[in-house]
Amino acid sequence: MTTPKTNNDHVFYRNPTKFYPTAARGEGIYIYDIDGKEYIDGSGGAVVVNIGHNVKEVQEAMMKQASMISFTHGTHFTTQAAIELADKIIAISPPGLTRVYFCSTGSEAVETAVKMARQYQVDRGVPSKFKVISRWASFHGNSLGSLALGGHTGRRKYYQPLILHTPHIVPCYCYRCPLNLKPENCQCECADELEKAILYEGPDSVSAFIAEPVVGATAGVLVPKDGYFQKIRSICDKYDVLLISDEVMTGVGRTGKYFAIEHWNVAPDMIVAAKGLAGGYSPINCVIATEEIHRVIKEKNGAFVHGHTYSQNPCSCAVSKAVLDYIDTHGLVEKSARMGRYLLEKMQTLNRHRIVGDIRGLGLFAGVELVKDKKTKEPFDPKMKVNILIGNRAFQKGLISYPGGGGADGVNGDHIVLGPPFIITERETDKLVGILDESIAEIQEEKKL
Ligand SMILES: Cc1ncc(COP(=O)(O)O)c(C=O)c1O
Repeated sequence: MTTPKTNNDHVFYRNPTKFYPTAARGEGIYIYDIDGKEYIDGSGGAVVVNIGHNVKEVQEAMMKQASMISFTHGTHFTTQAAIELADKIIAISPPGLTRVYFCSTGSEAVETAVKMARQYQVDRGVPSKFKVISRWASFHGNSLGSLALGGHTGRRKYYQPLILHTPHIVPCYCYRCPLNLKPENCQCECADELEKAILYEGPDSVSAFIAEPVVGATAGVLVPKDGYFQKIRSICDKYDVLLISDEVMTGVGRTGKYFAIEHWNVAPDMIVAAKGLAGGYSPINCVIATEEIHRVIKEKNGAFVHGHTYSQNPCSCAVSKAVLDYIDTHGLVEKSARMGRYLLEKMQTLNRHRIVGDIRGLGLFAGVELVKDKKTKEPFDPKMKVNILIGNRAFQKGLISYPGGGGADGVNGDHIVLGPPFIITERETDKLVGILDESIAEIQEEKKL
């Protein structure tokens, strides 16, 4: 038996049993490895690369900022780069959000939002409010605090003894309605679960509710029914609970609007924005908060008792501003909406496969759920790793996708997420779907699924 090829160097890889080719360069929607093999970045890595690779304007902004000042600490200075970026983010944010707190990773930004909510509650004179309610089948990050809020059993299992117990409610998952209702005639009863949880926990103890407006990594793009987030907002208002929209994946145009929560005209108290904010060119993430939250913290304590070394990094801020300008100049949010409709239409061809159970999406954010039985929706045994087999086959054929699992119940369930750069053309979309189609067909036949 031959030993599988692995990377023999000093990097502690995410999966040391897997072989990772060496990426050499990127161009538009493509990545090229050192052997010259071309890959369509069909998922923008992990739904990050919103404007495509190798954009000259971003590189110029990076160089320009680096030639002036690359680092200042948030306790000493502000920079023109941070000021201009915050202005730009507020200009594209839903009304009511006026302040931007910068971080470096999505997990850090999620925890920042949770701490900001907590300090706000204390500073406004309601110190009993500290709990944050979230949902099963969701992902909010891999740091211990954000992992506690996430609802993916597989990712939590190893670290369970280390993570805080926090309340979770069922997701809005129409293909597998947790309340066994039909979307055609339900009243978004899954949103009522928030009210029940708040009442069980005690409204005086609940600080915030956090949710991804469209669930990404853990359940393969769950688009909520219209009315769900409107109901969630009114429950939050009724019990004086802050609403945090985790738009780490969905933010900055991914779903065809700058922020996904705007699809339902809901005003959150905070948005966590990340990946697409700098499109992969530099690590920068942020929490966008209301004036009221900022005012209370400023007037009561005077300072937000929080901070990270690389917050507000000037180079990252300049890069992010260039990315947002590029999105604006090239009308890429509208393009995401338009190409998203095209992608979803093309993906319908995948329905021909026995193992494709559901195809869903919003903007250029799409998911395919894979099932053992189309009629009963029975998931595959996760040990079979059907999602990974298909993802790997597509990778061999030159398509990068983002396979995931556990959406059905935290452990079972397979899906593939797609999230290509917004600059993708119709011809490239056809090619992308074609490779995925072939990969599903081959694995289905080879494994006799
Ligand atoms: C919705 C959501 N929140 C938070 C995170 C965590 O972000 P990061 O990996 O940058 O810590 C992710 C990452 O995929 C995410 O999808």
